[in-house]
Amino acid sequence: EDIVSRGFERAELQLSAQLKVLPEPNEYPRTIKDGKLKTTKKNDWTEGFYPGCLWYVYEHNHNENWKESAIKWTEALEPLKKLTNHHDIGFLMYCSFGNAYRLTGNEIYKDILVESARSLCTRFNQKTGCIESWNYRKAWNGIDEWFYPVIIDNMMNLELLYFATKVTGDSVYANIANAHAETTAKNQFRADYSNYHVVNYDEETGKVLHKATCQGFSDNSAWARGQAWAIYGYTMVYRETHDVRFLDFARKVSDVYLSRLPEDMIPYWDFNAPELSSGEPKDASASAITASALLELSTYINDSDSAFFYRNKAVEMLQILSSPAYQARNKKDAFLLHSVGHMNKGWEVDASISYADYYYCLLYTSPSPRDTERYRM
Ligand code: GLY
Repeated sequence: EDIVSRGFERAELQLSAQLKVLPEPNEYPRTIKDGKLKTTKKNDWTEGFYPGCLWYVYEHNHNENWKESAIKWTEALEPLKKLTNHHDIGFLMYCSFGNAYRLTGNEIYKDILVESARSLCTRFNQKTGCIESWNYRKAWNGIDEWFYPVIIDNMMNLELLYFATKVTGDSVYANIANAHAETTAKNQFRADYSNYHVVNYDEETGKVLHKATCQGFSDNSAWARGQAWAIYGYTMVYRETHDVRFLDFARKVSDVYLSRLPEDMIPYWDFNAPELSSGEPKDASASAITASALLELSTYINDSDSAFFYRNKAVEMLQILSSPAYQARNKKDAFLLHSVGHMNKGWEVDASISYADYYYCLLYTSPSPRDTERYRM
C-alpha cells in the first residue's frame, strides 16, 4: 500500500466526520483547535478549501457520494462570483469550482469561473500595475495607513486569471496576471528573495509608499506562509507563461525558504520568530503549500540533479507531514496539526486549518490540476 492511498484513507475518514457534523453547506469548516471546530459563513477567504478537499478525495476514490457532496459544497459558493471587495475570490472559486470543472467538465462551472475572473480584474489598476488585495485600511499597528495594499498571498489568485484566458481565448486576464507577477517580483522581495507581506502603493502615481507586515513577526522578517505563497505563486506563473524568468524567480524564492528551515523541515510561523524564543509554533500549512509547489517545480527543471534536489525536498516534507508528529489521525476531524493562522492576533495558533489540509491533499493528488505525474514513494 502506498503513502497516497494511506493519506486518502485518512482524508476520507476525517472529511466524513466533518460532513456528519455539518451536513449542509451553510457554514464551512475552517479551524480545529483543542477538538473544537470553527466555521465561517461564506464571508471569509477560506470557504473554497473544504469543497476542494472533497473533490480531491472524489478524484482518488471515484465514489459518487463524494462527488455529490463536493458538488453541493461547491455550488453553494456560486454567489461569490460577484465578489469584488477583496482579492481572495481566486482562492474561493478556483479551489472549489476550478476542481469541479476539471473533474466534471460542466460548462456552467466554467462560466462561473470566468465571471469570477472578471470580478477579480476590477481590482487591477494600470498605474500600480497590480491587483489591490485589500481596501484602504489602518495597518494592524493602528497607526500606518495602507492606501492600496498588495499582499504576497495575491499571487495565488492569479491562477484563476490564467484559467479564464485559456477557456475564453481573451488575453486580458493573463495580461493582468503577468503584470501583477512582474510588479510583485520587482517590489515585494528583498535582496535574499524573502518577501514583504504587504506593499502599500499610491494608487495615483503607482509609487511604493512603504513595505510592511500584517501576519509576520516584523516588517523585515520572513513570514513563513508568505514565502510559501510566493513559491507556489511563481511556480504556477511559470507553468502558465513558460517564461524562464519566472522559473528562475521561483527557484530563488524556494532556495531562501529551504536554506532557512529548521531541522525537521517544517518552518516556524515566521523564519525570524526564533529570535523571540525557542518555543515558537511551527506552521505546517506553509510546509504543505511549499511541498506541493516544489513537487511541481521539480518537473520544470531540465538539469536532473537540481530537479532531484527539489523533488527530494518535497518528498522529505511530505514524509514529515505524514508522520505522527503532524497527523491528527482519528483524534480530530482534520488531517494536519500545527498550523498558525494569525499569530499577531492570537488567532488559530497551533491549530488544524482547512488550507493546510487542502494543499496536503493537493500534494497527494495526481493527475493534478498541474501536470505532475502520479506521485509514489
Ligand atoms: N491569505 C491569508 C493567509 O495566508 O493567512
